[in-house]
Amino acid sequence: MLLDAAQAARENSYSPYSRFKVGAAVLTDDGKIFSGTNIENSSYGLTVCAERNAIFAAASAGHRKFKALALITQKLKGQKFNSPCGACRQVMSEFLSPDTPIYIAVLDGNKRTAYCKKLSELMPFPFDKFTEK
Ligand code: THU
Repeated sequence: MLLDAAQAARENSYSPYSRFKVGAAVLTDDGKIFSGTNIENSSYGLTVCAERNAIFAAASAGHRKFKALALITQKLKGQKFNSPCGACRQVMSEFLSPDTPIYIAVLDGNKRTAYCKKLSELMPFPFDKFTEK
């Protein structure tokens, strides 16, 4: 399932600077799964998050419509889960409709706990200059 793909991608995280591994996966409207992980750079600002890498992999293969996105990180002390960064939310809003489920999972040792939010909850007012509302 989608979270397994995200978790597998997380194993390939290139994150020597933050040591924070993230995995993500998207489900296309025709049932295909594309995954991505965070890839950091010694020029820190060039880092690309797992969510964007997953979406861009799918979009690069020609997909434009998605049913769900999942991401997974390790559980941080004092935090229930890690929600996606603002840049990734904007990129999600380009391709995912507002009611798309975003599964956010955390790993606490081997224990995986998943939460579900709609994209519209995470990103209520995306920038969209092409659509009249
Ligand atoms: N990161 C993601 O992959 N996704 C997010 O939504 C937030 C942050 C990555 C970027 C960087 O490699 C590491 O997590 C720490 O910020």
